[in-house]
Amino acid sequence: MRPITISAENARIDPGNPRWSAPVAAGPVLAVIVPTFNERANVPELIKRLDAALAGVAWEVIFVDDDSPDLTADAVRAAAQRDSRVRCLQRLGRRGLSSACIEGMLASAAPFLAVMDGDLQHDERLLPAMLETLRSDGLDIVVGSRYVAGGGTEGLDASRLRISRLATRLGRRFVPETLTDSMSGFFMLRREVLPEVARELSGVGFKILLDIFASSKRPLRFRELPYEFRPRHAGESKLDSQVAWEYAMLLLDKLVGRYVPVRFIAFSIVGGFGMVLHLLILTVAYQGIGMEFVTGQVVATGIAMTFNYAVNNALTYRDRRLKGWGWVRGWVSFVVSCSIGAFANVGIAAWLFSRQYEWVLAAIAGILVGAVWNYAVTFVYTWNKPRRA
Ligand code: GDD
Ligand code: MN
Repeated sequence: MRPITISAENARIDPGNPRWSAPVAAGPVLAVIVPTFNERANVPELIKRLDAALAGVAWEVIFVDDDSPDLTADAVRAAAQRDSRVRCLQRLGRRGLSSACIEGMLASAAPFLAVMDGDLQHDERLLPAMLETLRSDGLDIVVGSRYVAGGGTEGLDASRLRISRLATRLGRRFVPETLTDSMSGFFMLRREVLPEVARELSGVGFKILLDIFASSKRPLRFRELPYEFRPRHAGESKLDSQVAWEYAMLLLDKLVGRYVPVRFIAFSIVGGFGMVLHLLILTVAYQGIGMEFVTGQVVATGIAMTFNYAVNNALTYRDRRLKGWGWVRGWVSFVVSCSIGAFANVGIAAWLFSRQYEWVLAAIAGILVGAVWNYAVTFVYTWNKPRRA
């Protein structure tokens, strides 16, 4: 168990301590939302730079931390004990940059909301200009862009730049044509925009800005301001190959999410691969090495189920990934659920077949019923409990 600590020093009852009678102050004008995962070493520096950049502005910063193992949240709370403009939102058993930003924005009452990374790659000195532009020009959102004149990508190597460009191209149909940097994670919006889009947001993966533009029912009035994307200050990037999968899920959700839950699509894609794997193993076991058909079938089922479970855990449910003993417990509940699903599948197919339905149709109906069952039951029993990251 990792402790959730606050300094005892200020918690001691001491009527003489002026902190026990702090004056009531009006809320901030600007909230800076900073999603963090293992950014402990960057926290003090970021606060220092915000303080310098935002002199004269009533601001607050909300760090949304997903229970980072490096105890980023403790570092934030330590800073918050010294500075009431600093706040910590610690989420347990959850992961995700976009959803962290959404919850951070919802946690603030400020009329202007900015989102920026916690690793100092985004230039905090742009914030006053963003605020000024947003205030004076009747805009909904101001975006920090690496691709308008004056902006740059010093902090990206050639391969990251290529991937970013490709992702931008793939996302084009969801954002206004004139938006140059839809992959930006650095922007500021008026709080009125939030309730308009909040319930439509997918909240999947890294690309919250694209999500906002794609979720808005009306065209958002925006402007881009250039900034230089700097190299990371301390720590490591969390971008890995699974981020590509999450991006695909975000785009898919924007396309068909209204009709089918995107997790179900992901679950079914994984299931399709599992089925191919099953047939391959069965072929090798039964045809290749002459195992009994039933034994081969049992072996293939076991391996395919474990494969499905592991891949769904890593991709479909990446935001609630099970680890350690949780992984083992999850595997048991997955296997039990899917075994019942397999009976339902066979039962429905056999019943339809006995009623003179075409065998292919009967089989497909069985597979569909089995898939929906497996998805629904494992959603509730295997992946629905909050847990530690
Ligand atoms: N709460 C939370 N949960 N925060 C996260 C998570 C998560 O699962 N994953 C990453 N973060 C935080 C990081 O700690 C960091 O503050 C910020 O999100 C960006 O993560 P990086 O790992 O630094 O990502 P990057 O530098 O590769 O990507 C950034 O640049 C892209 C543009 O190329 C992000 O700003 C993207 O949003 C941006 O599009
Ligand atoms: Mn970064």
